Amino acid sequence: MASASAAGEAEVPNKRVILKRYVTGFPSEDDMEVVTATARLAVPPGSAAMVVKNLYVSCDPYMRGRMTKHERPSYVPDFVLGEALVNFGVGKVMASGHPDYKVGDLVWGMTGWEEYTLVPKPETFFKINHPEFPLSYYTGVLGMPGLTAWAGFFDVGKPKKGDTVFVSAASGAVGQLVGQLAKLTGCYVVGSAGSDEKVNLLKTKFGYDEAFNYKKEQDLDAALRRYFPEGIDIYFENVGGPTLEAVLDNMRNHGRIPVCGMISQYNLEEPEGVHNLFQVVAKRLRMEGFMVLEYFNQYYKFEEEMAGYLKEGKITYVEDIAEGSGEGTGSADRALHRPQRRQATGRRRPGVSAGTRRHFL
Ligand SMILES: NC(=O)c1ccc[n+]([C@@H]2O[C@H](COP(=O)([O-])OP(=O)(O)OC[C@H]3O[C@@H](n4cnc5c(N)ncnc54)[C@H](OP(=O)(O)O)[C@@H]3O)[C@@H](O)[C@H]2O)c1
Repeated sequence: MASASAAGEAEVPNKRVILKRYVTGFPSEDDMEVVTATARLAVPPGSAAMVVKNLYVSCDPYMRGRMTKHERPSYVPDFVLGEALVNFGVGKVMASGHPDYKVGDLVWGMTGWEEYTLVPKPETFFKINHPEFPLSYYTGVLGMPGLTAWAGFFDVGKPKKGDTVFVSAASGAVGQLVGQLAKLTGCYVVGSAGSDEKVNLLKTKFGYDEAFNYKKEQDLDAALRRYFPEGIDIYFENVGGPTLEAVLDNMRNHGRIPVCGMISQYNLEEPEGVHNLFQVVAKRLRMEGFMVLEYFNQYYKFEEEMAGYLKEGKITYVEDIAEGSGEGTGSADRALHRPQRRQATGRRRPGVSAGTRRHFL
């Protein structure tokens, strides 16, 4: 199959954010560097690869794990020093040798933190079927975090109308959607977040029945008893640590805990212990980890369902966007720090205060 190219065989400058050194503790600006390489806007003759121009890249918590050098292989490979960081992003096809992807197509998938990426396996990318929404939504509500919320809540959490649901990191990309899906299912839902502004947003924009600022609670167990006097049926776990410990004591018998992530542990050199795991036995809980990658085969079904909710105004979405790769690693660094340091606050859209997706191209 002959390759098509939007800009002939031209070589263009390709700004990229590379990892300079492996990270311990919180990532810092010095761990990364912006370098300018070149990219060819054509694919090698006879190959089925494609070249995408990256329009948005996402900064997701799991990237932190890839910045550490692991002695034992992790569930995703460590980043390669000197290479561009890699994560989900939205792009436009500039050249393609693949029969199913043509120049001009809008796609999302695993790409580089750089302006142009050569994608050897285009079939790992999804087509964007609803360009009427902001394209950045494909790094959030219509992309990986949205699918995570949908799959984790429905497939792992197995909710029923009337269930009591608790969500941690509730204003994050995943949490804000879990809460709204729980409300659509007829559940009572409470979220925790790290600022009063976010708590307000949970109640006024995302429809949470109740929300609290976990940083202001002296006693998390007492806070949960206040909001769940009869106990919790489903805990959507995003943070781990002391929150998980308090939740275990407040679960109802036969409760479910979809374990999505444990962000409170990602920057610690010594993970915290959880001391009351016997509650899993005593209360006959089902605690189950899941990976969004295993639900990619249901992506287009999810995309249609979520696009429908967005159009009907049943689901709303708030993003947090950092712009521009031209100011050194500053915007990349800020994008990385906001979620990890629990400061995610939108700054681009007036009136928006809790944030989720982060990109910088
Ligand atoms: N299993 C999967 O396939 C999968 C896929 C996607 C994401 N995840 C996981 O899902 C979770 C949420 O991801 P996301 O994309 O929604 O994240 P996000 O949008 O980046 O939001 C992360 C939020 O976590 C909170 N946080 C940070 N440090 C914390 C700490 N020490 N203790 C408590 N909260 C803390 C912060 O909010 P506050 O200000 O409210 O603290 C922060 O804004 C993460 O654990 C992530 O790893 C898993």
